[in-house]
Amino acid sequence: MAIQTVGVIGAGQMGNGIAHVFALSGYNVALNDISSDAVDRAIGLIENNLDRQVGRGKISQEDRDAAMARIAPQMDLAALGQSDLIIEAATENEDVKNKIFASLAPHLAEHTILTSNTSSISITRLASRTDRPERFMGFHFMNPVPVMQLVELIRGIATDEATYKTLADVVDRLGKQAASAEDFPAFIVNRILMPMINEAIYTLYEGVGSVQSIDTSLKLGANHPMGPLELADFIGLDTCLAIMNVLHDGLADTKYRPCPLLVKYVEAGWLGRKTDRGFYDYR
Ligand code: CAA
Repeated sequence: MAIQTVGVIGAGQMGNGIAHVFALSGYNVALNDISSDAVDRAIGLIENNLDRQVGRGKISQEDRDAAMARIAPQMDLAALGQSDLIIEAATENEDVKNKIFASLAPHLAEHTILTSNTSSISITRLASRTDRPERFMGFHFMNPVPVMQLVELIRGIATDEATYKTLADVVDRLGKQAASAEDFPAFIVNRILMPMINEAIYTLYEGVGSVQSIDTSLKLGANHPMGPLELADFIGLDTCLAIMNVLHDGLADTKYRPCPLLVKYVEAGWLGRKTDRGFYDYR
């Protein structure tokens, strides 16, 4: 099936990046959020990030203008129902995601493919609450979406081959690289990345190293582009905790226990860059 129109639900850091790359690849994008401020902010960020790409000679001014013209804010969730493809990129919370899919259900066109950008939640379980588990998939982008090459494709138990093939073709058209993951907690990237970040937080909690020495060690000692604590702030500590909880609950192994320091930071509302405070102070 040829995808032309895409509805993106959630205008946070993942949603704005997803809208950006789809619009740049020629898809018409409707961007939705419960907050109109969030949509306005996202459109401003997309504009800045496209300008940055023009400035660095990655895209032309014409491509930038055409991409902006393909993105429409859409405050009415029901209006997204006619899209060929819907990408849910709301908060990493299963109830929130289920409510979004339930609100969309009466408005969905027969052919619409539903996807979730969840970083950890069971695709089979999310799909089972919809009327179309065969046309439902995990479609997991990495942050920052315009830069990161990978998209994880996760089939639920009922996902059909045509849906998988359609999304694999979309990833090609975006110029990105797909990797298939089975539907187990946190799939591949976060199954490996999050325990590393959690371990870095334990390393800080136990006083083995300071924030700076932990990040410098991984940057210079393992050639990571960002240290694990800087990366945790970048991803959002609430998202890191939500993913650790999914791993801990889903795999029932104490090795996935979230570090108490991570829990405390989230309880304090120190969520990283988005709240100007996490392991680093951005104020
Ligand atoms: N939009 C467009 N372009 C962007 C961008 C954005 N939002 N952010 C950065 N860029 C571009 C810059 O313009 C620059 O382009 P050039 O190569 O043409 O110069 C390039 O990306 C590098 O950016 P900077 O020079 O500003 O900074 P940097 O070299 O420090 O790189 C980074 C920044 C790309 C974020 C790099 O630090 C990095 O790769 N960090 C790790 C990111 C990572 O691990 N992401 C995965 C998180 S896990 C996840 O997403 C899954 C999950 O479910 C939690």
